[in-house]
Amino acid sequence: MKIAPSLLSADFARLGDEVRSVAAGGADLLHLDVMDGQFVPNLTFGPLLIDAVNRLSDLPLDVHLMIRDPLALARRFVQAGADYLTVHCETVADPEGALAAIKALGARAGLSLNPGTPLQAVLPAAGAADLVLVMSVNPGFGGQAFIESALDKVRELRKLKDGGKTNALISIDGGINRRTAALAAAAGADILVAGSAVFGSADRAAEIAALRGA
Ligand code: DX5
Ligand code: ZN
Repeated sequence: MKIAPSLLSADFARLGDEVRSVAAGGADLLHLDVMDGQFVPNLTFGPLLIDAVNRLSDLPLDVHLMIRDPLALARRFVQAGADYLTVHCETVADPEGALAAIKALGARAGLSLNPGTPLQAVLPAAGAADLVLVMSVNPGFGGQAFIESALDKVRELRKLKDGGKTNALISIDGGINRRTAALAAAAGADILVAGSAVFGSADRAAEIAALRGA
């Protein structure tokens, strides 16, 4: 099980310390939530900050684009250091084409879906995805409650993966804590994204280990 702390819940006044604390604490990836105030009702950061985080750590950067027209900016995010670049299926007309465009830029390509979006929206492209990011909260903010129906999507993706229909890493994002981490693990997730659980804990290593062990 890989753990991807989401910097959305970090203290940005101490960004270097925050990044180093989760890197030293055993994080496998760093999850970066890019929001545009259009696709989601919140604004965060862009390539400038991704580039800064990339220079703070050797961990792979898992960049989650919650923006309209993600392909217009994809190159900038890859140049800034995104190792995985994930777009929402709700924001692209042609999910398979979007994944191919991201791969052509040299990054691994991810596809995400909102809690209200049926899994069918990503299935035709699942074989081409390096990562599928199942949202277990409505995107926009950290600290929300886990939406249990996301587990059905994880279970279905796990079945497809076990059947050789996709090699995508199955990631789940939103409301992950020690209790829901266990549910997500049992459902077959490969990656747990956790913001408030990790950055709300004084002992980052202990929290990361607890989520991994759940
Ligand atoms: C929500 C973001 C998440 C968020 C998760 O839109 O995609 O990555 O940071 O935060 P928690 O773990 O607090 O739900
Ligand atoms: Zn996210």
